This record gives sequence, structure tokens and C-alpha cells, in this order.
Amino acid sequence: MWEVGAICLVALLLLDEPKCKNGKLPPGSMGVPFIGETLQFFSPYPSHDIPPFIKNRIARYGPLFRTSLVGQKIVVSADNEINYSIFQQEDKSFQLWYTDSFAELIGREKNRKLLVDVDQTTRRHLQSWAEHGSVDFKQGASQVIFEFLARNLMSYDEKRDSKKVLDNCKTFMDGLISFPLNIPGTVFHASLQGRKKIVKVIEDILQDRRASKVPAHDFLDHLLEEMKNEDTLINDNVAINLIFALFFASHESTSQAVALLVNFVSDHPDVLAELTKEHETILRGRDNENTGITWEEYKSMTFTHMVINESVRIGSITPGLFRKVVQDVEINGKNLFLAGYTIPAGWTVLIIPSAVHFNPEKYDNPYTFNPWRWQGQELHKGSKSFMGFGCGVRLCVGAEFAKLQMATFLHYLVTKYRKKINENYNIGGEANL
Ligand code: HEM
Repeated sequence: MWEVGAICLVALLLLDEPKCKNGKLPPGSMGVPFIGETLQFFSPYPSHDIPPFIKNRIARYGPLFRTSLVGQKIVVSADNEINYSIFQQEDKSFQLWYTDSFAELIGREKNRKLLVDVDQTTRRHLQSWAEHGSVDFKQGASQVIFEFLARNLMSYDEKRDSKKVLDNCKTFMDGLISFPLNIPGTVFHASLQGRKKIVKVIEDILQDRRASKVPAHDFLDHLLEEMKNEDTLINDNVAINLIFALFFASHESTSQAVALLVNFVSDHPDVLAELTKEHETILRGRDNENTGITWEEYKSMTFTHMVINESVRIGSITPGLFRKVVQDVEINGKNLFLAGYTIPAGWTVLIIPSAVHFNPEKYDNPYTFNPWRWQGQELHKGSKSFMGFGCGVRLCVGAEFAKLQMATFLHYLVTKYRKKINENYNIGGEANL
């Protein structure tokens, strides 16, 4: 009996071994049928490092290897030349997993106007945390960013509308990389339900706005205006999905980035001192210390931007970037060791930014938090060595907003709450203000 079972298992494993019609697959293992190597992939690991799943396989197979995760055939790339060429081939051999019309609609030049709003929202929340005595920065930042986005996207107020979009956002995020098993009780099912509820709220707001004809001067107004054009690509469905996708792309990443930033700064007194110098110089240049941050002041925060980039590099906020392969890709890069492998159409490429961000050939002492390493470096574009906000054609459209939010937090923390943060912040995420 056992023998029959063993033969079946071997047969299944053999069946699962993938073939490549036009070339040689990168080395690696597809794990066990259906599950692949998903369980190993999700084993917990200390943050601020390359995940051990990736590290071990790079050691065994090199920086390009195949695997299978959540039912998908995957080629993992930890090679910066290959990553870079993948980012350059956007829309030819690889497709982004996000809605296409994003960048056009959000626009990259609106952040200047948003500064006043970001400034006021951040100040108000910091004040209320200070009155309360303590805050969990991840959750606190998440609320600030959610409130800001909800207001600017569709004039939604969680307290007033009490529809619990924020909770459902979290449920949706939990299921993003999970087995696509849509049965009650699974994370995936809960995630879909969460998405459904958020979509319903957005849909109701859209219908109400259209019926009332009263403008709210938010992003939804722009979408409704655009929909009146005859040749528009936007319909109700696209508009709802755009707003939903914006919540999802921005919320978790930015709140995590703010929390990490505060954590790193409070752990490095030399960084805090340099930041304080930069921000106190800004205060001294004002007629009235209590006026909000101006665009010129924001642009002068060079060291702050070095700190932000270093936090995003070392914090591995984006653990992986996915691209669907639409036509066979033969690797003929500079790295002869990798040349000759083919990534077949229909597979997915998983790019691992941390493998580049912790590469000692690119960064001296890569595990050390050292904002000064950015001195004289490009701070606002992606590169072969820095892809914290993406790289190539598809840079993060929210990067400027996220940086604006992070810089604003830092400004008020180091000028108004510095001493308390320094003394009382603990790594668990809770700060006494
Ligand atoms: C610290 C915070 C953030 C980080 C680390 C981050 C990171 C990234 C990365 C790495 C990508 C590229 C994804 C890829 O190539 O597959 C990306 C794309 C994107 N991000 Fe962000 N992001 C952040 C905040 C935001 C915010 C605040 C928004 C919106 C307001 C946003 C909206 C987007 C959108 C729409 C895309 C897709 C761009 C496109 O299709 O061309 N992100 N982000």
C-alpha cells in the first residue's frame, strides 16, 4: 500500500516538473504539487534582511531561480542587471499587475497643493497623540494617511460615515498573497469580502455624488467630469477600481514607512541631531515659527530626504515586485553565468528589491543605517541599485506624496516632540509623546 502511495507521489512530482519549449529554465525546484514552496516562502524572518527563502536559494542556484508560490510558476530575480532590463521592457514582454490609467489620472505635480493639507492633518494628529500620551506609530500613521486619502479621493469621513473602510482595507491586504481558495474561513475569502464592502461604499458615494450634482472638489469630481467626455476610457467600474486601487497602493506602504522612519531615527542619535539641525534652520528662517511648512522649505530638506531613502532601502517596505511574462524571454545579460536561461510566457517574475538593497557591492556595510551614504547621490529616481519606489517606466506615482508625508512627520517630531521621542520611543512601535 505504502509503495503505491509513494509511486503516485513520485508521479505527481514528475508531472509537476515544468518544461520550457524554447530554451532552458533557470535552476530551482517547484516544490510539492499545488503548494509548491509556498510554506517555506512564508516562514517568518527578522525584517531588514533578505528573506532566508531567497537567500538560501541564491546561495544554491544563483540570483535567478524558479519556484512555485500560491499556485503560480515563478522565476525569482535577484540580479540587478536582469531586474533593470525587466523594468525597461514594461508592456512589451512584461505587464504590470496594476490598473493602467493610474499615472495619468493622479498626476505627479499635485503634491505642492497637498502640502498644506498634509501639514495640517499631521499636526492635528500629533497634537491629539501628545494629549493622549502615547501612540503606536504604525497604526497612528495609518489613520492619518487613510483620513487624508479618503478625504482627497472621495470626501469620505470614516467617523461620519461609519462604514469601516479602514478595517476592510486591512482584511483585504491580509489576503493579497494567499492561496486563491474562495471558501468561507480562508484568508482569501475574507479578503474578497473586504474588497466587496469597500467597493460598495465607493459605489454608493459615486452614485450619491452624481445624483446630488454638488461638487466636493476631490478626485471623484475629476473622474465624474472625465466620464462626461465621449471618448473617455473611464466608466463607473474603472472609476471605482481606481479609487480602490489607490487606497490599496498607498495606505499600508506609507504607514509602514512612517513607523520605520521614526524607529530608525530614534535609534540613531547622530541622525536625530543632524535632522534637528536641518529643521531648526528652517524654523529660524521663518517670521513666525508656527506657520506650516512651505514648498521651498520642503525642497530644502536634503538630509531629511537622505534619511527617507535610507529607511526605504533598509526597511524593505516592498518585499517583491511581480510581472507577468507575456512572451518568452531569453536572458542574454552581461552576467555570463545567467545567459542562456529562458523565462517562459505565462510565468511570473518576482523581483526582490532587498537582494539589491543589501548587496555589499552596491552599498558599503549594507545592514548599517547610514543616511550619509546618500550624500551627492540621486535622491528622487529609481536606479539599478535603488528600487524602493520602483524603477524604470513605472515609478511609484505616490512617491512624492509619501515623501511629503514622511518629511512632515519628521519636521514636527524633531522640532516639537524630539526630546520625548528620543527618550521614550521603543521598538515595539509605541511612542510616548
Ligand atoms: C513609502 C510609501 C510607498 C512605497 C515604498 C511605494 C512603493 C511602490 C513601488 C515599489 C511601486 C512599483 C510597483 C511595481 O513596479 O510593481 C509602486 C507603484 C505605485 N504606487 Fe507606490 N509606494 C508608496 C506610496 C504610494 C502612495 C502614497 C501612493 C498613492 C497616493 C502610491 C501609488 C502607487 C501607484 C498608483 C503605483 C503604480 C504605478 C504605475 O502603475 O505606474 N504609492 N509604489
